[in-house]
Amino acid sequence: MHIDSVLGRVRGCIRTMHGYVPGKQPAQGQYVKLNTNENPYPPSPAVLKALREAVNADLRFYSDPLATPLREQAAQHYGCAVDEVIVGNGSDDVLTMIFRTFLDAGDILATPAPSYSLYQVLGALQDADYREIPMGPDYTLPDGLDACGAKLVFIVNPNAPTGVLHPGSALRDFLARSDSMVVLDEAYADFAGESAIDLLPELPNLIVVRTFSKSYALAGMRLGLGFARREVIAQMMKVKDSYNLDRLAIVAGCAALQDQAWLRETTSRIVDTRTKVLEALTAMGLHVPPSRSNFVFPRIPDGRAAEVYRALETRRILVRYFTAPLVADSLRVTVGTDDDMAAFVEALGSLL
Ligand SMILES: Cc1ncc(COP(=O)(O)O)c(C=O)c1O
Repeated sequence: MHIDSVLGRVRGCIRTMHGYVPGKQPAQGQYVKLNTNENPYPPSPAVLKALREAVNADLRFYSDPLATPLREQAAQHYGCAVDEVIVGNGSDDVLTMIFRTFLDAGDILATPAPSYSLYQVLGALQDADYREIPMGPDYTLPDGLDACGAKLVFIVNPNAPTGVLHPGSALRDFLARSDSMVVLDEAYADFAGESAIDLLPELPNLIVVRTFSKSYALAGMRLGLGFARREVIAQMMKVKDSYNLDRLAIVAGCAALQDQAWLRETTSRIVDTRTKVLEALTAMGLHVPPSRSNFVFPRIPDGRAAEVYRALETRRILVRYFTAPLVADSLRVTVGTDDDMAAFVEALGSLL
């Protein structure tokens, strides 16, 4: 068979879509790496110890397909029932399950923009109709979010890439009047100290998604959580890969949730550094949204964001630059250690 005929059998929506472009992952130590919102501190020692102990002959067995110990631990920690929790190979996996469960070809999904760019890609995989509803200059939830007839609405809170938090009251109002399923992607919620998981009992149209990649410093472990009414979780379980978490990931997730002292300590260090870097950028005269996440999003004047991004890279400082129209004037910069951020602020100052 000719290759053209092979490609002719690929689904049309896949042929025409663009895949997600993840941030660069260069070899360790080459850069001050501030491009993918990883944690600058190593994971909890208790997690590393539990992992070492779990590297044993039991790896010949499949993992628990229901990841029961981790779901029990998560239910206890977040105050819900085990059957209201689903786990994923990273929160991207949980998001994928939501798309597979709810979206048919042609269904509308909407997100206040700017937003996490993976939603558009996952929408394209389902041949769904992706709509971005721009937020206003004050980053409030846009009115049109209600009116576009979306089956699914995705809200990142705190927002990525701006870092701005939608207040709980605004979310509750939106959720209570919305006819859509609303997914709150709380990838960065531990840095804001606010969550909507408590709203689940009163709002059957809510799904909350969390990750261990940011605040728990476990991006390389691939661990995410989804919370929803048990009826919703039961549907999502049907589309889950059978063994989507490996044995080590389940062990790491349990140990991470058990070490809340480590989480509090490192999160508060990152939040302190965030305060300092926001002050430094503001003192340089830059517009920076009030971040409640582990990254900041300074606007680079005179249309120079792409150029400054490249110049920082040549100085071995890696940040994230997005070309989409609403965000192409800014750089997304992960909050690293105090030293990382001092190096970034100094380099940026010399480039402006
Ligand atoms: C808003 C948002 N959601 C989800 C994710 C995915 O995280 P995970 O590593 O858990 O797949 C990210 C990662 O950057 C993110 O920014």
